Amino acid sequence: MMKSVFIGSGAYLPQRAIANDELSKTIDTSDEWIVARTGIRRRHVAAEGEFTSDLAYEAAKEALASAGMKASELDLIVLATATPDETFPATATVVQTRLGVAGIGAFDVQAVCTGFIYALAVANNFIKAGQSRNVLVIGAETFSRILDWQDRATCVLFGDGAGAVVLRAEPDQGNGARGIMSTHLHADGQHHDMLYVDGGPSSTRTTGHLRMKGKEVFRHAVVNLAQVVNEALQANDLEAEAIDWLVPHQANKRIIDHTAKKLKLPPEKVVLTVEEHGNTSAASVPLALHEAVSDGRITPGDVILMEAMGGGFTWGAVLARW
Ligand code: COA
Repeated sequence: MMKSVFIGSGAYLPQRAIANDELSKTIDTSDEWIVARTGIRRRHVAAEGEFTSDLAYEAAKEALASAGMKASELDLIVLATATPDETFPATATVVQTRLGVAGIGAFDVQAVCTGFIYALAVANNFIKAGQSRNVLVIGAETFSRILDWQDRATCVLFGDGAGAVVLRAEPDQGNGARGIMSTHLHADGQHHDMLYVDGGPSSTRTTGHLRMKGKEVFRHAVVNLAQVVNEALQANDLEAEAIDWLVPHQANKRIIDHTAKKLKLPPEKVVLTVEEHGNTSAASVPLALHEAVSDGRITPGDVILMEAMGGGFTWGAVLARW
């Protein structure tokens, strides 16, 4: 059996950052309200003409460089996004063309904010089944394009960005060795109306805008995330003390604090980027991961627990040794 080992990471944020004070000039909000309820201080927003594929491509290039790998060595690209460049083809194929690697498999995964966790699980299964050796996994979003900028309850929360990792197949030498230990995916479509986009090619033939019942989402997020992180630990017969780094989906600092508290993890073990990035949906976990890898916090052999929850609802976790 093969195991998926992380050998590189990359990230990209659009140049323009919008601080809370700038938003308070166009909608009835304040820096105090946003920081107190969410921890968010600013978010990045893609430039006119800058697409999800552009963000993804930049993150992918950096991930390949840090892996010391040429794009030609890849045999699969899995890209998580809920904001593709176009309804079809998959944004992964746009990135593939720009990387100059025609012929290999390339497809998108759609699980909104849980997208990167789903994409990692898919890539891991291709590797474990012996069908792929070197896989590029990307989370990339331009949520700024689907926000209702007049709706203060949602537009202050999200941002644009991309993160990527390269996974390599290596013989499985057990959970003491580097690589993905387990993946855990869940969904419950009954909760559609709590977080969705009111448009789409088949229903309204428009792109639509993000709609959310924030309080309800919050309530479900804390329960579902507590469940899935415990599931990941139990599956590997590990206690929470074994976790070196919690790399959570960056939706809201209060949700992250709640998960860390349940795990009895001190704040120093939690990677936080929500303050600077806002919620970048499928990009949020790989952006946070890359930040902690590149600043030297996460080092080879560290146990990392990644988790996320998003529209659907979808939720999931990946436990790995970096
Ligand atoms: N600025 C100022 N006031 C705002 C505001 C803003 N940006 N957005 C909402 N408000 C107001 C509301 O209108 C409401 O006013 P009212 O009492 O006069 O009606 C008040 O603040 C409280 O709103 P409420 O929605 O109850 O706030 P909350 O404490 O639940 O916080 C969220 C709102 C969105 C921050 C919170 O519910 C949340 O984080 N939910 C999870 C969202 C999430 O993470 N989604 C993504 C998951 S992937």
